[in-house]
Amino acid sequence: MRTQVAIIGGGPAGLLLSQLLHRRGIDSVVLERKTKEYVLGRIRAGVLEQGLIRLMEEAGCAERMHAEGFTHDGTQISYGDEMFRVDFAELTGTSVMVYGQTEVTRDLYAAREAAGGKTEFNVEDVVIHNADSAAPHVSYRVGGAARRIDCDFIAGCDGFHGISRQAIPLDVRREYEKIYPFGWLGVLSETPPVNHELIYANSPRGFALCSMRNDKLSRYYVQCSLSDSPGDWTDRAFWEELKRRIPAAQADQLVTGPSIEKSIAPLRSFVTEPMRWGRLFLCGDAAHIVPPTGAKGLNTAASDVHYLYNGLRDFYENGSSRGIDSYSENALKRVWKVERFSWWFSSLLHRYPDQSEFDLKIQIAELEFLRSNKAAQLAMAENYVGLPY
Ligand code: APR
Ligand code: PHB
Repeated sequence: MRTQVAIIGGGPAGLLLSQLLHRRGIDSVVLERKTKEYVLGRIRAGVLEQGLIRLMEEAGCAERMHAEGFTHDGTQISYGDEMFRVDFAELTGTSVMVYGQTEVTRDLYAAREAAGGKTEFNVEDVVIHNADSAAPHVSYRVGGAARRIDCDFIAGCDGFHGISRQAIPLDVRREYEKIYPFGWLGVLSETPPVNHELIYANSPRGFALCSMRNDKLSRYYVQCSLSDSPGDWTDRAFWEELKRRIPAAQADQLVTGPSIEKSIAPLRSFVTEPMRWGRLFLCGDAAHIVPPTGAKGLNTAASDVHYLYNGLRDFYENGSSRGIDSYSENALKRVWKVERFSWWFSSLLHRYPDQSEFDLKIQIAELEFLRSNKAAQLAMAENYVGLPY
């Protein structure tokens, strides 16, 4: 088989890139190791930056998002029984959209299918060949049969556990990582959200987050030990712990119910450089990971896709390699700013096992400063709604 762009990974990054390229008549094939149902079964954050919204509009996939998504003009931040609001709309003139990441992926799959896009599921043994040549190809197996795709370019959109990153030689690749000493226990429940906006809570017992998917489906998280497993937490224990971590007024209003999904995610900051090796371009979680605190995983995959899509367009439409040659540098400039914000926001809200009394005083002073200083709130808001591409 031959295509212009072979895309490894059928998550949001790979699908968005494939759909955008299709809209410009650039052919791609998506290789996904799982089934579509498995991919759509993943529960992920649901806060979309304007940049991602615009890309979904350009991809022709934004109709349901605009119909079912919720605009959020601000967020609540609480510490103990104190709570204050950061008003994104007033400070930055823009907002974010709450719309499940699973729904973004569902919309992208629907668009690819409607366009007759080629996606191969259940692929195995994907191998990248000759990435640093003008004639790269990808080999893989599906249903036991050996396959090969010859292509002009390869987009490694296969997430943190994919194979693309490894195709960049160790003596070229530089990796940067920070592992956080705690995880997030997340619960999905068919209950009305406790608040119409998100609540990010710092409490003496640890972080908590009150989020939602719609007005009948809530998403909550509590910081937990890395040694915990979901089975260690009954629903009752979860709800009681969440109530201890949010202000009493909200705890009293919290509607609890059976969890329909319960999982624990570790927190990590990770960046690999460069994000390009010859004709291979890394995109999304294949190149970087952020702690979920700032909801930046999908949004940063989107900015990577923006740079790569426009670089490939420039190549095919204008014969210029300027965009693809500057891809890694441009993408990484924004990636590191997002890593900084996600690290800062995580440091502000979580309780760390090795925190001294002094550290705790500084953390509360940081929250008080954010509460009282418009410049501090503007800096936070500009990062939260999304830095410019
Ligand atoms: N071959 C083919 N597909 C693979 C391989 C492989 N060797 N390894 C992984 N994959 C697939 C995974 O099954 C997954 O569907 O690549 C996809 C990667 O998708 P994500 O992990 O979702 O990463 P990405 O598309 O970059 O999404 C970025 O969106 O999923 C959310 O918050 C999440 O931060 C993440 C963001
Ligand atoms: C979520 O709704 O899952 C969510 C929202 C905001 C975050 C993280 C997760 O910062």
